[in-house]
Amino acid sequence: MRTVYWHQQHVRMIDQRRIPWELALVDLYDVAAVAESIRDMTVRGAPAIGATAAFGMALAAQNSSAQTVQALLAELATAADLLKASRPTAVNLAWAADKLMAIAQNGNFSTPDEIRNALLQAAQQIADEDVEINQRMGKIGATLIHENDTVLHHCNTGALATVDYGTALGVIRAAFEQGKKFHVLLDETRPRLQGARLSAWELEQLNIPYDIIPDTAAGFYMRRGEIKLALVGADRIAANGDFANKIGTYQVAVLAKENGIPFYTVAPTSTVDLSLASGDDIPIEERDKSEVLAPFGGAIAPAHFNARNPAFDVTPANYLSGIITENGIVRPPFDVNLRRAVMGEQV
Ligand code: MRU
Repeated sequence: MRTVYWHQQHVRMIDQRRIPWELALVDLYDVAAVAESIRDMTVRGAPAIGATAAFGMALAAQNSSAQTVQALLAELATAADLLKASRPTAVNLAWAADKLMAIAQNGNFSTPDEIRNALLQAAQQIADEDVEINQRMGKIGATLIHENDTVLHHCNTGALATVDYGTALGVIRAAFEQGKKFHVLLDETRPRLQGARLSAWELEQLNIPYDIIPDTAAGFYMRRGEIKLALVGADRIAANGDFANKIGTYQVAVLAKENGIPFYTVAPTSTVDLSLASGDDIPIEERDKSEVLAPFGGAIAPAHFNARNPAFDVTPANYLSGIITENGIVRPPFDVNLRRAVMGEQV
């Protein structure tokens, strides 16, 4: 089942807030509801929110009663702004909303219906291509996993974080489908527990052997020599290879380097933002302190206690062994090779 898809003239998605306890679907009938589903993390993961934004734009076009191309374009610009404001860090969101806006603006359409059809087709294409790209990255990255390895993974980068299949978890899945025997350690990924709830749920279904570990245990297993490879996703990669990903990624990277363990991020080229020179320019979302003080409603401290809750951190490129993309594994110098991969060259 896909994480998000077009269903009978509206958007349907898996409610990721309820996994692993229940597989529930949510139906969204207007663009405001789509933006809210991104903000409240009903859907999350960079490629998944990119595809959701694309379907949100298509939905805004379908719902509009605009009679002229100009009127529809004005409504779509408002819809794109609303979607882009829902979460700031993952560039896939703005990438998809801007891409659909550009199609609407530049397609030389003479009627609003032509735009409606074009946007729905473009959103479907983004969703279909996401699955294809993930499968391609999976095959490329699987070469890095060897028999009897233990692989550390942070957050959730699987089918749920994408339209289907996954990025870093897609690499793990591809290696398993090739018949390799290995073990996965899943960082639980506080405070929203994407590792313990979502990645573990996915590996359960795929029968891939895993253990959830507290985030604080990654260094312990690395120093004991148990971990052979660390794989993570990315929400935005700057031109120099610095990248933002789920909070805690930076400490995994530093620990991996300290212990001589290869550390890779796996991301489609739509996650690369060549307009940013370095990771210092990536906007980092800060979420409500209640997610720290009472994760999923279970209070661990009184609600009036102080807390901070950055959702992402930035890992400098020098910690990366490589960036696994659909166009190959990008190696240093990242400022040169990343650009080549984004331009479609096989690297
Ligand atoms: O806050 P989230 O759950 O949306 O964060 C997700 C991540 O950080 C993932 O690692 C990233 O989006 C890549 S997912 C293929």
